[in-house]
Amino acid sequence: MSILDVRNIYKIYGKDNSKVIALNGISLKVNSGEVVAIMGPSGCGKSTLLNILGCIDAPTQGESYIDGTQVNFKKLNNLSEIRNKKVSFIFQNFALIKDLSVLENIILPLKFRGISYKERVNKAKKYLKELEIENFKNKNIRELSGGQQQRVSIARALTQESEIILADEPTGALDEINSIKIMEVLKELNKKYNKTIIVVTHDNLVASFCDRILKMKDGCWDNN
Ligand SMILES: Nc1ncnc2c1ncn2[C@@H]1O[C@H](COP(=O)(O)OP(=O)(O)OP(=O)(O)O)[C@@H](O)[C@H]1O
Ligand SMILES: [Mg+2]
Repeated sequence: MSILDVRNIYKIYGKDNSKVIALNGISLKVNSGEVVAIMGPSGCGKSTLLNILGCIDAPTQGESYIDGTQVNFKKLNNLSEIRNKKVSFIFQNFALIKDLSVLENIILPLKFRGISYKERVNKAKKYLKELEIENFKNKNIRELSGGQQQRVSIARALTQESEIILADEPTGALDEINSIKIMEVLKELNKKYNKTIIVVTHDNLVASFCDRILKMKDGCWDNN
């Protein structure tokens, strides 16, 4: 059974002259344990699709099933429950809280899962080390470079240990060596724990780590 299954999804912004069709009847099924790359030109709808898959945005039309259960986009409780339990995000713009430290950012989502402070810090340790950011765990986000911030946002997503990881340009601010490192960490999580991973990327090297590469164009799949 597919862990992610979206059917005939439309996302339309604005009205009349300013109408933008970000997603134009797109469908996608992803099996549990798959690593999928989504590629395509800027503005083709990649982030919009990822946000709908991860229940942080609702489609204008269409259905979504996670683990066989239909997502009720009208019920905020349902959406936050799914996000808390099943999905973690690596955002294109990092989405870190600038006034908090590296460690505080990483463990914040776990607080909403009712995990004790001690256990939160314990879980974070492994990924601080793996992403080589433990030396600045007490620094403020403002003091970090773009690439360092990106690694913090990845560590935050991994520390949640969710079944599904949705990554929007996870290596956009990184050099080749660090990009490979990130993909190796993601692949290891996939192999060890059967995580399902979707990576939006412009980088062929990143895509080459994935089981399946999908191309988008103008809110649809580009089958050419
Ligand atoms: N909140 C919004 N309001 C209006 N239009 C939007 C909004 N968010 C996205 N769009 C539009 O929807 C289309 C798809 O945007 P999206 O962010 O999904 O593209 P993308 O493929 O992720 O691009 P990039 O590679 O540059 O990140 C674009 O034309 C964009 O301008
Ligand atoms: Mg995007």
